[in-house]
Amino acid sequence: MTADPTWNGVALDAATALALLDWQREMGVDEPMLDAPVDRFAEPIREAGAEIARQPAAVPPTAAPPPPPGQAPGADAAQMAARAGTLAELAAAQQAHEGLDIRKGARSFVFADGNPAARVLVLGEAPGEEEDRQGRPFVGRAGQLLDQMFAAIGLSRTAPDPDAALYIFNVLPWRPPGNRRPEQAEIDAMLPFVARHVELAAPEIVVLLGNAAAQAALGQQGILRLRGQWTTAFGRPALPMTHPAYLLRNPVAKREAWADLLSLKVRLMQGQPAQP
Ligand code: URA
Repeated sequence: MTADPTWNGVALDAATALALLDWQREMGVDEPMLDAPVDRFAEPIREAGAEIARQPAAVPPTAAPPPPPGQAPGADAAQMAARAGTLAELAAAQQAHEGLDIRKGARSFVFADGNPAARVLVLGEAPGEEEDRQGRPFVGRAGQLLDQMFAAIGLSRTAPDPDAALYIFNVLPWRPPGNRRPEQAEIDAMLPFVARHVELAAPEIVVLLGNAAAQAALGQQGILRLRGQWTTAFGRPALPMTHPAYLLRNPVAKREAWADLLSLKVRLMQGQPAQP
């Protein structure tokens, strides 16, 4: 029989230990840590039976030259985004952009999903663990709720008809480590790509999901105050809404989200939406 695991010196039964692990996964922990940091670069590695010293990683031949003195890394985002004439060109330009460190820790570049011809564009925050794994936005638990919410008003990312379709992307195309919130500098760095993305998709309405989207599009946070109030973002009518991840944690807020969805449905039924 194996001894029960302990946590901070307290013995845990197996069910509690599993529940703690689940909770840590939910919080974005994706790697076990030790009490003291380990310098993996200083460790010898074994290859084909021989112990060899780890060599510094080679600089990839495609690495961009360092920015000129005085120019922040990634300051070329506006030019790169403006030069893109199609969504495919924009995706290539954004993926090649080297201004954000989070790209180094992410598995996938998560550009967009759905129908680019959709009347409604949904702007989210950043990929999470599942999105990073699959390379598509909103495919985890929050994404499933998002699909259900919009299905309730007849919209889906798989619909070929622009009237019934959704197009979805995030402010950040790379997963921030541990699912932390995007930093202001990261939002600022990606803003030219976000704005160009909206311009190229040319939706009738933009839905801003959560604080990061509101910050990027409106320069404001406080989604609980902003939600449900039609405004203008990227030159188009925009509706801020609470993020589905928030709704998963606060199911009572679904009532207000439902009211916002109905407001969106009414606006779509009115045809060409009036300017806010
Ligand atoms: N949350 C987001 O904002 N975007 C995703 O793609 C997944 C979760």
